[in-house]
This record gives sequence, structure tokens and C-alpha cells, in this order.
Amino acid sequence: MNQNQNFERPDVINFLSKVVERRTETPAAQQRYLEIGIEEGVTWRKVNIGNKDGVDPNPAVSGEPCTNYRMTSDEFFALHLNDNKDAKDPKIYDIIFVDGLHHCEFVWRDIRNSLLLLKPQGFIVVDDLLPKLEIEQFRTQKAPSWTGDVWKMWYLLRSVQPFGNITGAVNICWGVGYIDAGSDPKGLAMLMSPEIPDCHDPLKAMISWDTYHSNEQKFANIMTWDQFELIFALDPEWYMDQYPDLRQNGITTRELSIQHWITYGVNENRFPNRLAMKKAATAQSKA
Ligand SMILES: C[S@@+](CC[C@H](N)C(=O)[O-])C[C@H]1O[C@@H](n2cnc3c(N)ncnc32)[C@H](O)[C@@H]1O
Repeated sequence: MNQNQNFERPDVINFLSKVVERRTETPAAQQRYLEIGIEEGVTWRKVNIGNKDGVDPNPAVSGEPCTNYRMTSDEFFALHLNDNKDAKDPKIYDIIFVDGLHHCEFVWRDIRNSLLLLKPQGFIVVDDLLPKLEIEQFRTQKAPSWTGDVWKMWYLLRSVQPFGNITGAVNICWGVGYIDAGSDPKGLAMLMSPEIPDCHDPLKAMISWDTYHSNEQKFANIMTWDQFELIFALDPEWYMDQYPDLRQNGITTRELSIQHWITYGVNENRFPNRLAMKKAATAQSKA
């Protein structure tokens, strides 16, 4: 699948912030963002969300406002989850970007902890799911670009649950993944379950790099930027309510409605959400 070179990590985050705004009517200026792993703050600075926190034990720049939690992600979560326990207004986030230590077990833990600090309609974004070369994905850095073995975590996560488009990897940079926590809280809660085989040790998710790389599409749910935009343009419940023929023909779930929208709805000029229909009606009345 061809890569789109025009988009970067902050574009995914800013796009999902608009989805949160549509779902919750919370403008970006009032949303809350957490980034784990700041380095120089390149992404952090480009994120257009009003309230931003950053965690890094060893950021590449000092004295910057982006690392207001100078500690490891484990320390941050322990502190924060404890503070939230008795708080009347617990500090939880609309979007959490996981980009700290690139070892699969750390990323796995960061994701599980992030799910505890995420708003119900929020998103987790994860970097570096799609290494381009084998040399980039070793656990110690051997090449200038380093993804580590984050891909093992993604493989494991997607094999725990048939997530469909609730999780996906946008094919930009080295693969930027999203987890749509609002779509399937029950499914995602499963990730917290201690019963899930091998989950405590993603290193046990034994799959070779060659097998993953040659089956990435199947394992990782890779999508182009355009497909990503299409998926989140859709308000599945509204779409099924608006077009009764869908339910009559067995399109009764979020996942099926996404498939219908991408495969047929776009070409049939159906509307993906209320706002799109309203905009088209306004444009027509002005014409
Ligand atoms: C790839 S860089 C982050 C890049 C940044 N997110 C961006 O998009 O510009 C990874 C960062 O994670 C930090 N890091 C390493 N171990 C960590 C840990 N246990 N918890 C949080 N951050 C960690 C490193 O210090 C490094 O700055």
C-alpha cells in the first residue's frame, strides 16, 4: 500500500480531536491531551488541543513547557491514577499519544494504563507500528530510525479481539495507530482482563518479523489517510437510522455500516453524518 507523505503524527491527533469535538461537542480548546514520550516536543507543539500534558524522564530539550511530568510513564500513571481516586473531578484525557519507550511490553502497559485515564469517547494514538525495514525493529537501536518492537504489541492487541476498524494503522511515517475507545468499551475492557493469554508478556506473542511484515495488512489493519478520513466521517448510528434499507439488509452493526459506507455509500452519494447532510442542504439552498 502506498504511503502518503503529506501527513504526520500531529495530523492524526488533530483530526481525531475534531472527531471528539463532533461526538462530544467539546471544542479542541477545551479538550485534554497527554503525550507519553516528548523528546524535542515536535509533535506536542503541533497539537492544537487546549490543555496538554507531557511525560518524559529524559526529554531532549530542557526548560520546555511540553514536559510538565519529568518521569517515566509508569511513575506518571501511578501518580495520576492515585490522585484521581479521590478527586471530585478526575483528570482524564480526550486523546493520549503513546510514544515513550519502544519496547512492546512497555507500550502494552502504557496502553492499558491509558485506557484507565481516557474519556469515554476518546482515542489512544500509538506511533511506530509499521517498521519499513527489519533493522528498524530490533529492541536496541541499530539504525537512525528506530521503531523498536512496538509492532508485537499491535499484533497481540489485534489478535486478542477482532477489533475491525476500532483499531487501525494509518500508513504514514512509520505507521500511526489509533484505538477508538468510544466504539467498543466492552471489547476494550477485555484488554484489561488478566485472563487474556500472553497479555502480560507480549514477548510471548511469538510471531516472527518476516511473518508480521508479509501479512501486515491482515494483522495491523493498515489504511491510507483517505480511508482513515472516510471511516471517521461516518456516524454509524445516524447512518443506519437515516437509511432504513441498511438495517433491512442486515447492516446492523457499526462495523458493517463502515464497510457499507466505504464500499457503496460514498459512490451512492449517501451522507455519512448529520452535519454533512446539513452542509449539503445549505449549499443547495444558496445555489
Ligand atoms: C520517539 S521519542 C518521542 C517523540 C515525540 N513523541 C514526537 O513525536 O516528537 C521517545 C521518547 O520517549 C522517552 N522515554 C523513554 N523511556 C520512557 C518511559 N519509560 N516513559 C516515558 N517516556 C520515555 C525518551 O526519553 C524519548 O524522548
